[in-house]
This record gives sequence, structure tokens and C-alpha cells, in this order.
Amino acid sequence: MPTSRSKRNVRDRLVRAARTAMKNAYAPYSKFQVGAALLTTSGALFTGCNVENASYGATNCAERAAVFSAVAGLGPQMKVQAIAVVNGHDAPCPPCGLCRQVIYEFGPNATVFFRGRKGWRTLPIEKLLPEGFRLK
Ligand code: THU
Repeated sequence: MPTSRSKRNVRDRLVRAARTAMKNAYAPYSKFQVGAALLTTSGALFTGCNVENASYGATNCAERAAVFSAVAGLGPQMKVQAIAVVNGHDAPCPPCGLCRQVIYEFGPNATVFFRGRKGWRTLPIEKLLPEGFRLK
């Protein structure tokens, strides 16, 4: 299904904000800078970038940084309406499995914009994470 004009407008706004956030990425190990920006259902915008660590395992992705920032700013009732991910190589970059689960927790109906192999993709989180885990 083609992406509607209103979704494209949201995507363009989020992509711009994600590109700005990406400039702050700390990625000395992978050299793969990532930025994310999300819109909450209340209309607020939050961003994140990836922050790597010498231990590798302590690395945090841009998408999770954006979601955690939104929770810190608005509280745990915050809901993600849409989130966009960009990277410095314009490479395909769908959210990793951990980030999908985190997006789902705070936005079970969220729309995710990311680069696929043939350009931008727009998918509901439910499609990226079928049968997402939940406790309630
Ligand atoms: N990364 C993200 O920030 N988001 C993604 O969707 C994929 C991967 C980061 C983690 C790590 O800093 C670098 O990209 C390479 O994996």
C-alpha cells in the first residue's frame, strides 16, 4: 500500500529531527551513526542517537534512546505514535529486535519509518514484531 500524504509529512518531519540527533551519535567502534525521532500520541517530539561503549554490550541504539527520553520527559503513560530511524550511510536499517520490543511496549500501534533495501519503508510495529511480548 502506498504511504499517504499525511504519513509522508510526519515521516519527513521525523527524518529531519532524526538527522539532527544523529550528529550527536557516539559510534567510534562501528562508525555507524544512527538517529531516531518519535512523535507521541500527544504530539510531542523526542529524539535519540546511538551511544556505543568499549564493552560493546552496553551500547544503546538510537530508537531506545528516543523512547527512554520520551518516558523521562512525559512519564510512563507516554505512547509512541510514529518513529523514524536514519543512519549516516543511508544503508538499510530496520530497528533491531530489542528496539522493536521497546517500541511495542510504548506504542503497540506505532508506525515505523526506516530505510529498506529499496528506499523508505513504512510499517506498523505489529508487522515488525508479530506476537510482541507483554505482561499486561
Ligand atoms: N544501531 C542503532 O542505533 N539502531 C538500529 O536500528 C541498528 C543499530 C546502532 C547500534 C550500534 O551502535 C551501531 O548501530 C552498529 O550496530
